[in-house]
Amino acid sequence: MEWIALLLIVSILIIFIVDCVRCKITPTPSSKKVRLKVLEILPKTVDGVILELGSGFGQMALDLSKHFPKNSVMSFEKAYIPYFIQRFLLMRSHAKNITLFFKDFKKRDFSNSGLIFCYLYRSIMPELMKKIRSEAQKPTWVISHTFAIDELKPIKTAYANDLYNTPIYLYLIRPQEYKKHSAHPSASI
Ligand SMILES: C[S@@+](CC[C@H](N)C(=O)[O-])C[C@H]1O[C@@H](n2cnc3c(N)ncnc32)[C@H](O)[C@@H]1O
Repeated sequence: MEWIALLLIVSILIIFIVDCVRCKITPTPSSKKVRLKVLEILPKTVDGVILELGSGFGQMALDLSKHFPKNSVMSFEKAYIPYFIQRFLLMRSHAKNITLFFKDFKKRDFSNSGLIFCYLYRSIMPELMKKIRSEAQKPTWVISHTFAIDELKPIKTAYANDLYNTPIYLYLIRPQEYKKHSAHPSASI
């Protein structure tokens, strides 16, 4: 019996480590203070779907679904343990507007996005910006904390009231096509 428990623990540990290597990041959740500050600086309305890229255990996705009850929130996670924990938490929550995908968000088309939240890692940010720019059909709000998109000037930068003064960056990314025809965003801050 003890061997079975030990085997289970070791297997979970191996899955966790392999996933961290595969995803290039641990499923560290955004802290409560960071999440509160994110909600504070979000635009009031969003036109389109809200994407949580690499949603971890899902607290931020739940906050976003409460904050924007009329929008659809799509949550993407490709590591097994956070995915199953989030699935369990979603079953217990009353959130009706979240859909969780066990999927690499890079394989998802961003055409209908209105707002994208991410807390990822530095090297993915330029790639992410290019993907949003080429696929989004309208100006898309992007909110990222800890890691900035170096090529873009944020519309707003806020700092969480935590030990690290975590920076939170709000951008408005205009798709390539849209840029040629108009200069006005379709959402208000
Ligand atoms: C630092 S955690 C952030 C969790 C959550 N967004 C939050 O703020 O609390 C980053 C998560 O992104 C996931 N991730 C990284 N790359 C991914 C990808 N390409 N597709 C889906 N999930 C990914 C990781 O597995 C990890 O759980």
